[in-house]
Amino acid sequence: MNQHTRLDERPIPFIDVAAQRRRLGSAVDDAIARVLAHCQFIQGPEVRALEAELAAFCGARHVIGCSSGTDALLLALMAWNVGPSDAVICPTFTFCATAEMVALLGATPILADVQADTFNLDPDSLARAVATAKRLGLKPRGIIPVDLFGLPADHDAIAAIAAEHGLFVLDDAAQAFGATYRGGKLGALATATTTSFFPAKPLGCYGDGGAVFTDDDALAARIKSLRVHGEGVDKYDTVRIGITGRLDTIQAAVLLEKLKIFPDEIVARNRVAARYSDALADVAIVPRVGNHSTSVWAQYTIRLAPGTRDGLASALKAQGVPTAIYYAKPLHRTEAYRRFPVADGGAPVSERLADEVISLPMHAYLEPPLQDRIVAAVRGALRR
Ligand SMILES: Cc1ncc(COP(=O)(O)O)c(C=O)c1O
Repeated sequence: MNQHTRLDERPIPFIDVAAQRRRLGSAVDDAIARVLAHCQFIQGPEVRALEAELAAFCGARHVIGCSSGTDALLLALMAWNVGPSDAVICPTFTFCATAEMVALLGATPILADVQADTFNLDPDSLARAVATAKRLGLKPRGIIPVDLFGLPADHDAIAAIAAEHGLFVLDDAAQAFGATYRGGKLGALATATTTSFFPAKPLGCYGDGGAVFTDDDALAARIKSLRVHGEGVDKYDTVRIGITGRLDTIQAAVLLEKLKIFPDEIVARNRVAARYSDALADVAIVPRVGNHSTSVWAQYTIRLAPGTRDGLASALKAQGVPTAIYYAKPLHRTEAYRRFPVADGGAPVSERLADEVISLPMHAYLEPPLQDRIVAAVRGALRR
């Protein structure tokens, strides 16, 4: 930074990966250098070490590192043999990857509505989606709840519906690894949980990466085999059709270093979110975190009166404050997913949220002076 640049004139990043790199110093570079020295780029010792550290962090019995959050979902669904004539219920207000692997396997994602205050799967719509699947002659197999923006879904209600209908719960925690529900970390809660280590995620690497978490020994064994082309005990004795779904050793080395500061970053993210909510609650609908949960704030997303969002986004842009819209369309309104069924009763809340939401810069290194600038810009634009 030019020494004459005043703090309140600095550009504001939406996510500050560079600030985190400064804090990490040479730790990540040294970790990568160690991999370059031992040359075990595939399934090297850092992958096993990371899997053990992640298991200790969240309490899951098995952690299987893999190539992305999307491949993590694919591996779990393949391990359950999800395929044609199966239905898997997903929220429609999510990133497309949640439903994508269901569709890729030839199964049918049934798109259910979410709750306005948490942005997460609505248990009533979920129950209706099970009926929708049956009415369409499909076999309901599972539910993929999403812990959107870092906040856990209503897991008790979802688990009760899953138990009633004999469904698996595959928790898509791509945005929420590190969050807690009733005191426990995500990862040890659902039948299986997946996460993403995409660089912008709360725990991100420097490329693509992901993981599956489960307590189910047999499921974990199938996922490990699927991750390496369906290998059997012998690598060349292929026992099932699989994929190349491994986590790179270099990315595991990066994550091992980042995991050391992750608990502290979660505290910082919560501090930033609390400051936003205190400062904006009278001009916008700020996110609600229920009593049973903590969030890791992958996004800080506010809701606005209809018709005011574009004006706010351009006023903030003019003042150097970036924003993002997650998501401008629920999946069932997108070209690729409009052919899939929506749960009986429709998804009116998701459709409304798509017009109301806007996400503000959020990361663990957002200093109070910069955040105050964002807050002042938001308040100024909304009061006009
Ligand atoms: C809810 C959700 N699920 C799945 C994914 C896919 O993760 P990846 O990009 O690592 O494949 C993402 C990534 O943005 C996500 O937000």
